[in-house]
Amino acid sequence: MDEGKRPSLEIRKLQFMTDYAFSTRAIHAGQNCEKEFGAVVPPIYLTSTYAQEYPGKPKKYDYSRGGNPNFANLEASLASLEKGEFSTVYNSGLGAISSILSHLKPGNRVVSIDDVYGGSFRVLQRVFQNFGIESVFGDMNDFSWIENELKKGAQIVWLETPTNPLLKVVDIKAVAELTHRYNAELVVDNTFASPYFQNPLVLGADLVLHSSTKYLGGHSDIIGGGVITNNAAWKEKLDFSRMAMGFNPSPFDTWLTSRSIKTLAVRMEKHHSNAMTLAKKLEQHPKVKKVFYPGLPSHPQHEIAKKQMSGFSGIISVILDMDLETTKKVIASFQLFILAESLGAVESLVNHPASMTHASIPREVRLATGVEDGLIRFSVGIEDPDDLWNDLNESLNRS
Ligand SMILES: Cc1ncc(COP(=O)(O)O)c(C=O)c1O
Repeated sequence: MDEGKRPSLEIRKLQFMTDYAFSTRAIHAGQNCEKEFGAVVPPIYLTSTYAQEYPGKPKKYDYSRGGNPNFANLEASLASLEKGEFSTVYNSGLGAISSILSHLKPGNRVVSIDDVYGGSFRVLQRVFQNFGIESVFGDMNDFSWIENELKKGAQIVWLETPTNPLLKVVDIKAVAELTHRYNAELVVDNTFASPYFQNPLVLGADLVLHSSTKYLGGHSDIIGGGVITNNAAWKEKLDFSRMAMGFNPSPFDTWLTSRSIKTLAVRMEKHHSNAMTLAKKLEQHPKVKKVFYPGLPSHPQHEIAKKQMSGFSGIISVILDMDLETTKKVIASFQLFILAESLGAVESLVNHPASMTHASIPREVRLATGVEDGLIRFSVGIEDPDDLWNDLNESLNRS
């Protein structure tokens, strides 16, 4: 192609923000061809350090804890998908969470949703608490509770929507407005929805975070995280804490995540349609007591979900109408749903939060937020929906 006719990278970046639809941005934003040989897929820059032409004058990067071309490619991709300007990628979702929180000071407060991911609860209560950072947890559909806490003074409001594992949905726009009225900042963990179904920055969030271990990676083969923001000062702080505390990912993991993002749109469509099919069928099954899925009209915040999400993603939680031991036997007997932690991958997974992902939360705290002993969480994959239903139905009927 005539070099002169190809728009510059900067112009193309801008186009990715405005002109192209999600599935196009997923394939092209941050996925530029390599320059020297024209390789369509950029190489993995497996280097820890970079040659400098003159002392203290590196070309761009000096050491991969601070930066690497594969990080930069994934950051451009995430920023584009979340409709934000900047992004910083991490070694894990929890690395991203810790990096944000590390900018708080003794005496600062975090107001968090009660049904927060167990690891976020643990790092707030058992690590940052030791440095004088207080965190409180409550129902984020109760705006008077949030406002009361903000009045006491808070720097960060921490929101997950839909939540893990109860799939609670909270109005991001309303919470952002309330948060900003009290000069605090809103962080939204968008792991469950993925940028395909929900863009919190557009709804007023200050920082959006992902465990890219989940839908972004999508194949249960990497651990990673990312934060996206429109705030240049935050971008600088996030890069600094990644470098200063060693929260950097590996070039290979970031390359794999960029590769996986190319299929994010098609995967998310299938996760959503499979989950919708199974949620409707589970709701009718006599051995199922309760189904939590934001796409069902029976979900208490279904209207909010419809307003801020363009689809309902692939996670369903249920309470079975049976005792705990029978519940455990049932979930261990599935053929296709693999009994494993994590979620958001092409293969269907099932998890028992009380004994697996949420075991780090004290039982009384867990029960108070509604995470009952009998709750199970399905991460619906992209297999054939009839095969998935037969797997669930047969095990339930046998119990
Ligand atoms: C909603 C949510 N946020 C953050 C994390 C932490 O991510 P990671 O496991 O990549 O550290 C998880 C992990 O399960 C999660 O479910």
